[in-house]
Amino acid sequence: MGNIKTIGILTSGGDAPGMNAAIRAVTRTAIYRGFRVMGIMRGYYGLVFNEIEEFTSKSVSNIIQQGGTILKTARCKEFTTAEGRKTAYENMQRAGIDALVVIGGDGSLTGARIFAEEYDIPIVGLPGTIDNDLGGTDRTIGYDTALNTIIDAVDKIRDTATSHERLFFVEVMGNRAGYLALNGAIASGAEAAIIPEMETEIDQLADLVNRGFRKSKNSAIVLVAENPTTGGALGLAQRIKEEFPEYDARVTILGHLQRGGSPTAADRILASRMGAQAITALDEGQRNVMIGIKNGELVYVPFSKATTHTRNIDLEGIELVKMLSI
Ligand code: F6P
Repeated sequence: MGNIKTIGILTSGGDAPGMNAAIRAVTRTAIYRGFRVMGIMRGYYGLVFNEIEEFTSKSVSNIIQQGGTILKTARCKEFTTAEGRKTAYENMQRAGIDALVVIGGDGSLTGARIFAEEYDIPIVGLPGTIDNDLGGTDRTIGYDTALNTIIDAVDKIRDTATSHERLFFVEVMGNRAGYLALNGAIASGAEAAIIPEMETEIDQLADLVNRGFRKSKNSAIVLVAENPTTGGALGLAQRIKEEFPEYDARVTILGHLQRGGSPTAADRILASRMGAQAITALDEGQRNVMIGIKNGELVYVPFSKATTHTRNIDLEGIELVKMLSI
């Protein structure tokens, strides 16, 4: 246990289903092992503006099944400045917090790395994002639930696409990563996935049309990863209108509904295992690592590796989508 007596916990960045299960696991494991737990509201904002309260085992009752985060979340501008982080550190000290557990994605863990380096604080991260875009882990908390939400939506769109014999572009989130689009396409039996990882390789839209995808079918669903460069699904629909006017295309942007909902069993289990491991990590003297999962085993991933995006999406999935949709 070393010098750590009190552990602060916060959720930051975009919320993800399973964050509550992680908060519950961190809180209860910490209390079980004799630590005090302080809940920090609204991510780093709560550290800067001193919104901190003690958490008991009861504080996390009846939340494992809830989407969102009971701690609330935010993207805090003040914390990106040295002055903001100084105030955050002072508030942390006043509250007696010796270590932090940060649940969030890329930006949140980058903030954690900088804060830990500046003030020599033990911080352990948990990968909380629907995007599945962190390095050193096979899965992030929230990804499985978002995928299930996507396939539910696509199953419904399929009914109307088939009836009207239309081409549908369904845009999904992903923060410049194609995991939700690609695996959503495999799981929903979509005709194609258009992802940022393939952007420079080929013209994915032209490839789709040139495949003659409507020769054997009267409707098609294409999952498109959000992409500010190409304009995502709306950008593709515009290109269809101009370059391939013979197609009757429609767009559905799934948006923030992908971030909500009760977490799946897989996300609850992942969040519970990772949350408990965060306390073990601090107990073992680990610092500045994210808990990841590799081949079913929990692992420690340095923040620098978790946030460098070296993970490569398995592009064989694109071929699988094509082959299975003939
Ligand atoms: O990182 C999670 C995420 O949902 C991304 O997929 C998406 O690009 C972004 O957050 C949306 O952010 P906001 O909720 O701030 O619009």
